[in-house]
Amino acid sequence: MQDVTDLAFMRVIARYGAPDYFVTEFFRVHAQSRLEKHILRSIDENTTGRPVFAQLIGENIHHLTRAVAELLRHPVAGIDLNLGCPAPKVYKKNVGGGLLREPAKIAEILAALRAQIPGLLTVKMRIGFEDTRHYEQILDLVNEHRVDLLSVHGRTVRELYRGDVHYDEIARAVARVRCPVLANGNITSAAKAVSVLGETRAAGVMIGRHAIRNPWIFRQCRERFAGKPVAPVTLADVRDYIQRLCEATQRDATTDAPIPEAAHIGRMKKFLNFIGQSVDPEGAFLRDMRRATTAAALFEACDRHLLAEPTRPFSDEPYPGIIARPNCE
Ligand SMILES: Cc1cc2nc3c(=O)[nH]c(=O)nc-3n(C[C@H](O)[C@H](O)[C@H](O)COP(=O)(O)O)c2cc1C
Repeated sequence: MQDVTDLAFMRVIARYGAPDYFVTEFFRVHAQSRLEKHILRSIDENTTGRPVFAQLIGENIHHLTRAVAELLRHPVAGIDLNLGCPAPKVYKKNVGGGLLREPAKIAEILAALRAQIPGLLTVKMRIGFEDTRHYEQILDLVNEHRVDLLSVHGRTVRELYRGDVHYDEIARAVARVRCPVLANGNITSAAKAVSVLGETRAAGVMIGRHAIRNPWIFRQCRERFAGKPVAPVTLADVRDYIQRLCEATQRDATTDAPIPEAAHIGRMKKFLNFIGQSVDPEGAFLRDMRRATTAAALFEACDRHLLAEPTRPFSDEPYPGIIARPNCE
């Protein structure tokens, strides 16, 4: 996830039970692009012990293959093509989710990448741009170009990040493509992962925002899939997670120089917005942390809400009506 899953974040969440695979933030690929240094660090200096896929967003074959040639010199598990980003400034350039309007262009890109990549080529897609008119055609391209793994976020580009996820459309992909499919969108807990796997018959799940809120979710999924009890998380555990995030995000992801306090607070609030969805049902923690303008006030709010009753459980699911903002809309 852009501005989230950098090296520091991956290292922190790996302590709590890493996912089987990581995917980097996307490398933007265009005529002037160079591989972003901070994203490369999340591949080259990764100490999580888990494979890392490098995600690309772009549409020009020449530049995409140039970026892939460079990336293949790094220890990537595979190359992932982004066909889902819904940000207008992205899709208006006909990349990310914008490409879902042009199956012919997708065919050209997949043919070139498949010819170039000896290892794993994976795709992350939404179910369409404004509707699913090209969905089956694109799924057939996934087969034709021998994509190795497909992740499907069960919303259209127009649906952004809110509202119901169309798990029935993910089930259609599972039935149609030959490669494994990962179901994505609102996998909020291990219990939800089990129900979505049952509904879609997908090979696995991809978890985004809820891994920011609850980095224990991968361990909890493993426990649940093994039929074991899911170990609860306490508010004191969450305070420890926040402390580690704080230490990991004090430095610039590219230069490693210390970042100014205001920028650091802004970065921490981005994470705390998600974490706060499971702290208290009234959203009091979120309200207080959003008001903080100094690091001292921010961490005082964390201590007050998380350490007053340190053994109180951190909710597996987000509390109803408690919205994380800002998100990437
Ligand atoms: C802040 C943010 C950044 C994101 N960046 C990316 C990205 O770089 N590449 C990508 O494939 N998806 C990205 N996504 C989308 C997520 O991977 C995921 O598909 C979406 O949030 C739905 O899944 P979730 O409910 O598990 O979060 C991003 C989402 C958010 C909230």
